[in-house]
Amino acid sequence: MEIIHAPREMTLWASRVKATGQTIALVPTMGAFHEGHLQLMRLAATRADRVVVSLFVNPIQFGPNEDFSRYPRDLERDASLAGAEGIDVLFAPAPQDMYPPGFRTKIVVGGLTDTFCGRSRPGHFDGVTTVVGKLFHMVKPELAIFGEKDFQQLAVIRKMVKDLSWDIELIGHPIVREADGLAMSSRNAYLSPAERQAALFLSKAISLGRQRARAGETDASLLIDEIRALLLSQEGVAIDYIAIVDGENLTEQNGITKDSMLLIAAIVGKTRLIDNGLLLTNNDEN
Ligand code: PAJ
Repeated sequence: MEIIHAPREMTLWASRVKATGQTIALVPTMGAFHEGHLQLMRLAATRADRVVVSLFVNPIQFGPNEDFSRYPRDLERDASLAGAEGIDVLFAPAPQDMYPPGFRTKIVVGGLTDTFCGRSRPGHFDGVTTVVGKLFHMVKPELAIFGEKDFQQLAVIRKMVKDLSWDIELIGHPIVREADGLAMSSRNAYLSPAERQAALFLSKAISLGRQRARAGETDASLLIDEIRALLLSQEGVAIDYIAIVDGENLTEQNGITKDSMLLIAAIVGKTRLIDNGLLLTNNDEN
């Protein structure tokens, strides 16, 4: 595995690979790798000749009071985990190379970015689309892999790629969970043991939603009330939002259909966590 820091070098590598007719898959990340990231890398390897993993803690997607400065960073550990997956390149650009002084341009996806996580984190998705757009241009992938844990992020990136007519296939990977159900996240490292227990209520809430939908509940607001009651019963969990949306376009639904996704965001201690799941599914894993 090669570690590349300079964007120009990354682009030269990509041009050389493409000249031989090989395909490139990109897995964008902010590092602090866990099994979720590693599974995305494995999926990428099955879908393209070469795999590039980008590792960049993107300052412009963090709000002023968020965790940018304390976000876990350990390039050596991440390089050894990614290297063991047999990826070709770990692309770890420096902030000043991504955003040189005077940087003024952003990619903004309208509509989809104002709700849910976008409402609680103003500007967050503009930071995500801007960096992902830049990474796409530097790495020139035929396809890119994103996790469904960040469901709204994936929807926003799909919209960007479609609206800007970029010829890049996007592949979603199901949520990877700990044995007890907690969705894996680099931010789980912030949780104290007590908070870690409280955080389990997010995946419990997804399971409750599925049980109720399967048992025949068709009223989204009644189902959300039940989920809210479950989360409120757990001390240390502050609800940000609970929503039932059409998985295709993220519009809120009154009735539950086969496309209904349950989206949850909550703050546990000081850590903001998200989880989601398709309500009417036979697969409880994700
Ligand atoms: P990060 O949080 O590091 O996540 C990198 C990728 O891993 C994302 O596509 C995310 O959805 C996926 N992922 C994280 N936890 C997962 C889990 N438990 N199961 C499945 N996939 C999971 O998301 C970002 O970074 C950034 O916003 C980024 C897209 C890199 C732009 O900066």
